[in-house]
Amino acid sequence: MTDLSTTYLGMELKNPLIAAASPLSKKLDGIRRLEDSGLSAVVMYSLFEEQITHESNELDHFLNAGTESFAEAITYFPDLPTYNLSPDAYLDLVRKAREAVQIPVIASLNGISSGGWAAYAQKIEQAGASALELNLYYLPTDPNLSGAELEQAYLKLVRDVCAKVQLPLAVKLSPFFTVLPQMAGRLTEAGARGLVLFNRFYQPDLDLEKLEVAPRLKLSTSDDLLLPLRWIAILHGRVKADLALSSGVHTGQDLIKAVMAGANAAMTASALVEHGPSRAGKILKEAGEWMDEHEYASVRQMLGSMSQKSVSEPAAFERANYMKALRTYDDRMPR
Ligand SMILES: Cc1cc2nc3c(=O)[nH]c(=O)nc-3n(C[C@H](O)[C@H](O)[C@H](O)COP(=O)(O)O)c2cc1C
Repeated sequence: MTDLSTTYLGMELKNPLIAAASPLSKKLDGIRRLEDSGLSAVVMYSLFEEQITHESNELDHFLNAGTESFAEAITYFPDLPTYNLSPDAYLDLVRKAREAVQIPVIASLNGISSGGWAAYAQKIEQAGASALELNLYYLPTDPNLSGAELEQAYLKLVRDVCAKVQLPLAVKLSPFFTVLPQMAGRLTEAGARGLVLFNRFYQPDLDLEKLEVAPRLKLSTSDDLLLPLRWIAILHGRVKADLALSSGVHTGQDLIKAVMAGANAAMTASALVEHGPSRAGKILKEAGEWMDEHEYASVRQMLGSMSQKSVSEPAAFERANYMKALRTYDDRMPR
């Protein structure tokens, strides 16, 4: 019998497939459906800093170009006050979800400033959440803001939240750090017990007829797996944190790749939004069948077996592989 169990943030999970934050967890019924579909944990959709406080000075400092610069505000939730539940209703949903399902319920906060809103993490803990995911993402448009300053703000927030709660904290990152392994290490020193790679952020498009900026929410495909896969493989065994892969998990093989690269768990949103939560069952079935065929007895046995530290050609994850990849196109060019 194939053993799919894994651990993430100190929690025992029956398998490595977690429902990533998405509108599917906005209602109790949705959370029940995610459990019934076989997912081993659910990350709730995010509660935004802006929903909790509009008055933080630090937030004003970072958002001096207006909310438009807070990339996700215009993409996920164009009309924040009406789109999402109020903070109190969010807590209520956490409470009810914990009673209604057996799987861990991971609450999600989205923000970057270290204002009073971070104290909200305490309320989330009191509401009974199993863990907390902090989605750190800010699009810097101000040329006077240095990378170091922004990183300090992220670290301060993680430290502040960790000082307030006992809950295991995972930090969901964007891929846009100059030296990601260093930042990953500093986040774990600041208290993060897990890192989620990566937040998928939505690029605004231009509507040429209306001459407007049009937020486009494009769901991922398996091609989007490659970016987090590489970084999970590089970070596995190098940071003292559990790793969760997020972006591009659509099939059983995607899930297997995530685990082999070194992810304790993989999260999926687009596949479930597109095909319904029952797609999770298909992904898990495919992964189990693949493991049987290839004689793997457990997920633990596969974990990190293709991380950069484990493969025979570690340079394949680095620059050397780029030249090799480019050369594969040489033969296809007209002679
Ligand atoms: C419709 C939709 C809503 C999302 N809402 C949130 C959110 O509230 N908080 C968050 O951290 N991520 C949110 N995400 C990002 C997902 O959790 C996930 O990280 C991302 O979509 C990449 O995974 P995927 O390739 O499986 O979709 C959302 C994604 C989608 C598609």
